[in-house]
Amino acid sequence: MAGTRIPLTASARDGATGGLADGWLDTLTLSDPHPGETRHALVARTLRGAVTRGLLPEGTRLPGHRRLAQRLGVSRNTLVDALTQLHAEGYVRPRGRSGTVISVPVISVPVISVPVISGPVNSGPGHATTAHPGGGVTAPAPDGRPLPLSAWAIRALEGQVEEVGGDRYAVDFRVGRPVPDLYPEAAWTQALARRAAQVTHPHPHDPLGPLETRRALAAYLNAQRGARVTPDMVMLTGGTQSALDALARVFLEPGRLAVVEDPTYAGARAALAATGADVTGVPVDDRGLRTDALPPGATLAYVTPGCQYPTAVSLGADRRQALIAWAAAANAFILEDDYAADLHLTSRPPPVLQGLAPDRVILLGSFSKSLAPVTRSGFLVAPPGVLRVLTGTRPLTDRLPGRLDALALADVLASGAYARHLRRARTAVFSRQEVLVGALRTHLPGWPVLPVASGLHLYLPLPPPWTEVDVLARAARQGVGLSPVAPLSQGGHPPAVLLGFAALSTAELTDGAARLGTALTPAPDADPGYGVISTLR
Ligand SMILES: Cc1ncc(COP(=O)(O)O)c(C=O)c1O
Repeated sequence: MAGTRIPLTASARDGATGGLADGWLDTLTLSDPHPGETRHALVARTLRGAVTRGLLPEGTRLPGHRRLAQRLGVSRNTLVDALTQLHAEGYVRPRGRSGTVISVPVISVPVISVPVISGPVNSGPGHATTAHPGGGVTAPAPDGRPLPLSAWAIRALEGQVEEVGGDRYAVDFRVGRPVPDLYPEAAWTQALARRAAQVTHPHPHDPLGPLETRRALAAYLNAQRGARVTPDMVMLTGGTQSALDALARVFLEPGRLAVVEDPTYAGARAALAATGADVTGVPVDDRGLRTDALPPGATLAYVTPGCQYPTAVSLGADRRQALIAWAAAANAFILEDDYAADLHLTSRPPPVLQGLAPDRVILLGSFSKSLAPVTRSGFLVAPPGVLRVLTGTRPLTDRLPGRLDALALADVLASGAYARHLRRARTAVFSRQEVLVGALRTHLPGWPVLPVASGLHLYLPLPPPWTEVDVLARAARQGVGLSPVAPLSQGGHPPAVLLGFAALSTAELTDGAARLGTALTPAPDADPGYGVISTLR
């Protein structure tokens, strides 16, 4: 492919912000591949991981393609494809004729700015920096002493995905942005004020959270979500992620198997994989999880049956039964993430799986999308045996969420304020979706633009010959941010992008769709010289 080739550079250590100690390149090895992961995705993940750990700081100049490819044991084309993807994500940028430099996205995961090492560090004389089997990145600290990280920490860091924040795009459709204008500020602050005076009053210790909050949640789940819940089956959490962590620790360890949908919510896969268990992705089609492809022998399955994340389809009735039968046969638990329950726009999601099998399903709920992330309020519903284990294990890693927030939540649920807030929020989000769908259909005629029944983002499959890298790169050049689906998949899922619409105004939505129309016209086969590929090659 024609294009400007960036000349090789001798070393990365003369980066604009100083770079790393000599020889960092020698410590860089490929991470373990995920099942089905392409070579270039693996290279991209390895380099992205090095950036997010702070091992490759802003401005670090990468060596030439040939040298870097050799070091990683991949072909030059594979490396270029990986750099193209990283460019689209904002992790590298070409710098004139003098090479490719690291660009730390403003929005990246928490950066660990101290050197880390993979693998055992106390295992040899002088704490030799033994590489973890299969790779990761090692970097000696200036005094030669690495951080003695655990295998859990290394796996957790490797599983990190980009968190959204910052404001790099003129129109930012990336998912996961809070929707501040829909926050029920008045109802929430009134509830907090009312409860503030009582919160320090003596009260019985309750390892599950205040009984009145659990009562309000049980009533709401039974009435609204077809659940079968009593207050003693509810435990308050700081949100779904903390529940996933607690459950992963209880059920998973190296040698065990967990199942996730493919594609899936990356935070769930990362929490399960951090335990060292194998995490297998089971493909999703237009009726949700392909239950015929469930493997035997798993201990946990993390699923989003109401509104599959990220494809937004709901799980067919026959598949619900098949999933429950599979779990019963395997003595596995189903972690049902009901994240979009309250965010239905055109039709209610079907009742929760938990109502069909309360002894097999652990229901996870969170108010971080439907109220606001700042409340950090969530819950899990589990059979009594599981709850007994959690009340014993969870205090080691996590306390209950704040009592004031929990009591305020009870009030907004029981008073009807939450229901009123949802009616207003759904109407607003529904009309934002309508604006975006209409504008995309105008500016991208022929693209499969379909509204979603629930949730805060559109799922847009890419018509051939588009790839996610192409679309992200072209959109970025028009100032538009999109979320790719590939990082949510272990491989094999057809290319698609996500467009979060709930946090954008009508003007931004229409402007963004117009920019996408410009960015994505003409299609790649009519435009052979385009894109970052030509910039990076
Ligand atoms: C599908 C899904 N589940 C769970 C979560 C996390 O929820 P919480 O903020 O309660 O940890 C998210 C956050 O974006 C999500 O997209």
